[in-house]
Amino acid sequence: MLKEFLSIHDLTLYQFNQILDLSQKIKEKPKEFKNKLQDKILAMIFQKPSLRTRMTFEVGMLQMGGEAVYLAPADIKLGTRETPYDVAKNLERWVDAIMVRTFSHQTAIDLSRHARIPVINALTDLLHPCQGMADFLTLKEKMGDLRKVKLAYVGDGNNVAHSLIFAAAKSGAQISVATPQGYEPQSQIIQHAQEEEKGNSSFHLHITHDPWEAVHEADAVYTDVWASMGQEEEKEQRAQIFSPYQVNSQLMAHAKPDALFMHCLPVHRGEEATAEVVDSTQSVVFDQAENRLHVQKIIMLLLLVD
Ligand code: CP
Ligand code: NVA
Repeated sequence: MLKEFLSIHDLTLYQFNQILDLSQKIKEKPKEFKNKLQDKILAMIFQKPSLRTRMTFEVGMLQMGGEAVYLAPADIKLGTRETPYDVAKNLERWVDAIMVRTFSHQTAIDLSRHARIPVINALTDLLHPCQGMADFLTLKEKMGDLRKVKLAYVGDGNNVAHSLIFAAAKSGAQISVATPQGYEPQSQIIQHAQEEEKGNSSFHLHITHDPWEAVHEADAVYTDVWASMGQEEEKEQRAQIFSPYQVNSQLMAHAKPDALFMHCLPVHRGEEATAEVVDSTQSVVFDQAENRLHVQKIIMLLLLVD
């Protein structure tokens, strides 16, 4: 049984595969899981905006007979009005689990350390593990054996890139990451992923500054926004630095002919990816969004039901 869900890196291989397998099952037969979370309540702390995360956690809870309570950024002012410790100590008296979207990853760790109930990371500046699980479910559905997948990530070495690296490490996929200089994935993430490389021969991580090299022969090309939530002031500067990393038809043509296009959304058409690519038949962005629902239902089940 899972105690918390903060990072894909923390999962055992068994837990990683279990989440993917059960997610496929719940997607096929959602009714079989109806009422599995009856009388359970999830507190959802949001310090940043959201469409997909809020909807999929709330809808997931409702579909399984539970409830979710939304706490907007201005409601609790986590860290300023009240410490993560005090928030954890209050919430554990009323609800069964906490979902948190915040800035510092340490805040999510602190909440989890102090709460007697499970905590789910719904995005920090460091990681976006629910997204990574939904994306690898999507890849598994489309490609089959994850050990044969070559994923290219082009853009900012951010929270989404970090979680994709961890998911690739667990599943034994190959991942090539192309970023501008100074925007590479964090070295601690690379180190942690490489620890898994030793145990899993098919996993391979390649870091480059050349987007063409990264997408060469790729089965899927993934990108994310150039300025993440909290980096709004850097938006213009980043737009210039990242412009050679736009995923457009020319770049897609260097991947395999039927390569998938992936994005966690929200997307800015004309910036990190062209509309032509986002809206092409190769694009699976809405499958990824749908899969957020299925994987998070399973994560909640594994956290809340013995
Ligand atoms: N992909 C994702 O997490 O979307 P939201 O920011 O809308 O939740
Ligand atoms: N990297 C983006 C992901 C949004 C889902 C951000 O953190 O804003």
